[in-house]
Amino acid sequence: MKSRYESAKNVFIDSIDLDDYIELDSSLTAYRQLEHSINKPLKMILLFGRPGTGKSILLNRLQEKLKQQREIHYFDTPAVNEKEFFYKLFKVLTKKSLPQNTEVNFSALVNYCKKLRGKREIIIILDEAQMYGAEMMEKIRLLSDSRAVKFIVSLHKTDDEDLIAKEHFQSRIWEVVELKNATLKDQTAYIHKKLLKKNLFEIANSIKEKHMKLIHKFTRGNYRECNKIMYTIFEICEYYDKNEPTKVNYEQIPKKVIEMAALKLGYIDV
Ligand SMILES: Nc1ncnc2c1ncn2[C@@H]1O[C@H](COP(=O)(O)OP(=O)(O)OP(=O)(O)O)[C@@H](O)[C@H]1O
Ligand SMILES: [Mg+2]
Repeated sequence: MKSRYESAKNVFIDSIDLDDYIELDSSLTAYRQLEHSINKPLKMILLFGRPGTGKSILLNRLQEKLKQQREIHYFDTPAVNEKEFFYKLFKVLTKKSLPQNTEVNFSALVNYCKKLRGKREIIIILDEAQMYGAEMMEKIRLLSDSRAVKFIVSLHKTDDEDLIAKEHFQSRIWEVVELKNATLKDQTAYIHKKLLKKNLFEIANSIKEKHMKLIHKFTRGNYRECNKIMYTIFEICEYYDKNEPTKVNYEQIPKKVIEMAALKLGYIDV
């Protein structure tokens, strides 16, 4: 028989599918800031936050919501090389494919963009932009000078480097939107809403406030880590449900299970 925990477990498979999007305080604030920035005469907007804070899912949502009114394009992982990138950009800007075996002439592309000024405004979302080199970033900036193309650049923030401090992000053309790690309130809402969306009411109720605090402590409010621990918790519950159902407490997830999951994921040591 299928355990109810199996469905709960699958709720927490990492995904940036928009059907799985959940409105959280932080995502709503960042969304509004992005939308507001887009309407200002800025050339570049920077979205940054640690890995797993929800940048990609938010950018996908922005594109989905605005695509009826605006020319907006989402570039997920950076193209393998500069040639590929400009090829993709050429296609978006000119709405034509480049003939085979031809390369995009960069200065011609800049001139093309200048001519679009005042006629079209194209928004390009560049996700995972920490992977673009300095030279590419400079070219992207030159394109944005045309004021016909506006870039939303999304970057991870890591412990050892403060990207904001990097030279090309210091100039005033940037407006910065930051996604922080989840607060306890947001993470609690995230876990509950995800389960409720799949009608898993009892399971959602079996995760109490004290559990949420523990999960928040282990994951430090990171959504990707939160997905991992929730998946592991339900995987353990599923095992007991199938093999030793008398040991399962359906009213409340035992603290021990959360600790077992944390141990398995290396958040704590024995
Ligand atoms: N608002 C949200 N609604 C639903 N799921 C979310 C939300 N925010 C984050 N998540 C979940 O957290 C996971 C991480 O989010 P996402 O991939 O967007 O992070 P990221 O900031 O782009 O990370 P990275 O910097 O590593 O690319 C997603 O797979 C998704 O499951
Ligand atoms: Mg991402």
